[in-house]
Amino acid sequence: MPEFPYLTLEYLATAVILLDEESCIAYINPAAENLFDVSGKNLFGHAMRQVFTHTEQLDNAMLQAVHNNASYIEHDLVLGTPAHGKLQLRCTATPLQLDRKCLLLEFHPMDRPLKLAREEQMLDQTQANRLLLRNLAHEIKNPLGGIRGAAQLLEQELEKPALREYTQVIVQEADRLRSLMEKLLSPQNASHYSALNIHEVLERVRSVVLAEMPEGLTIQRDYDISLPALVGDKEQLIQAVLNIVRNATQAMRGNGTIILRTRVARQMTIIKRRHRLAVMMQIIDDGPGIPPELRDKIFYPLVSGHADGHGLGLTLAQDFISQHQGMIEFDSEPGRTCFTVLLPLQ
Ligand SMILES: Nc1ncnc2c1ncn2[C@@H]1O[C@H](COP(=O)(O)OP(=O)(O)O)[C@@H](O)[C@H]1O
Ligand SMILES: [Mg+2]
Repeated sequence: MPEFPYLTLEYLATAVILLDEESCIAYINPAAENLFDVSGKNLFGHAMRQVFTHTEQLDNAMLQAVHNNASYIEHDLVLGTPAHGKLQLRCTATPLQLDRKCLLLEFHPMDRPLKLAREEQMLDQTQANRLLLRNLAHEIKNPLGGIRGAAQLLEQELEKPALREYTQVIVQEADRLRSLMEKLLSPQNASHYSALNIHEVLERVRSVVLAEMPEGLTIQRDYDISLPALVGDKEQLIQAVLNIVRNATQAMRGNGTIILRTRVARQMTIIKRRHRLAVMMQIIDDGPGIPPELRDKIFYPLVSGHADGHGLGLTLAQDFISQHQGMIEFDSEPGRTCFTVLLPLQ
């Protein structure tokens, strides 16, 4: 394998699984491996229900196809996958007579147009966010110098030293705000691109976060070490991933497990552009999940679920990733939140 008829299926963009007479998996094409994030060679000889969950609708489609000896289409099929949870798919089951009786299963992800619309909206939003942030940062940064200087002058005139505590608060807070504003303004001009290994980025983030929260936090690595090098700005990528991982540790209150996963993704469309190869990074935590009322807006600036949060972490992360022509997506339910970062490879 692959030999005829499998050879042609190898090149299809449609996800295809071929079942043998015993309804066991005889073949999975690369598009299906990609869609379900599984490795075909581990699955041969297994029944669909041994690999996937929530197979009731699929079982029914297969049954109908065999029973009528004709194609059966299920337009709104839910299938539970090991890596991505439940997927919504359009599935066609077709009985075939090859060298033996087979059942051909084709899968199309349902959310394609939806996903594209969302990506487009996200891109617009990212650009709008960037502009908004820069303008805001400028407006705030300018008067800060004046406030700081005035507080220092005032301090010199103060007779009671105890009052200096107050002017010190003004100076320190002005400094903190200025460094925050500089963070917002700097990334635009200061990108340093070089070839890098994405695992260096993840390892750095891992050691920073473990140093911040040494107890209670477990970070598991699930790396695909065969990933090719990526051209990118290492500091920006570290900051982006760090922001995502820190949110996870905060949500778990430092107690739980984070999985850092990397995979190669083939034939990915990222914000309307098709890429032959991309790096997929996933940051998965087992915390309480993103509050439902925040889910539509966590990438917006100043949106935070914490009283003391700036709500800039994900805005910046998205900005950095989109400067690399990549994108961030997430999927969240109590007990499992997964942020997926896709970065195209040249
Ligand atoms: N892994 C996660 N689990 C639960 N909630 C999250 C997670 N990641 C992000 N959030 C929510 O998204 C909000 C926005 O995050 P972010 O932009 O980094 O701002 P901040 O961390 O300053 O609040 C967080 O306050 C939190 O409510
Ligand atoms: Mg944050």
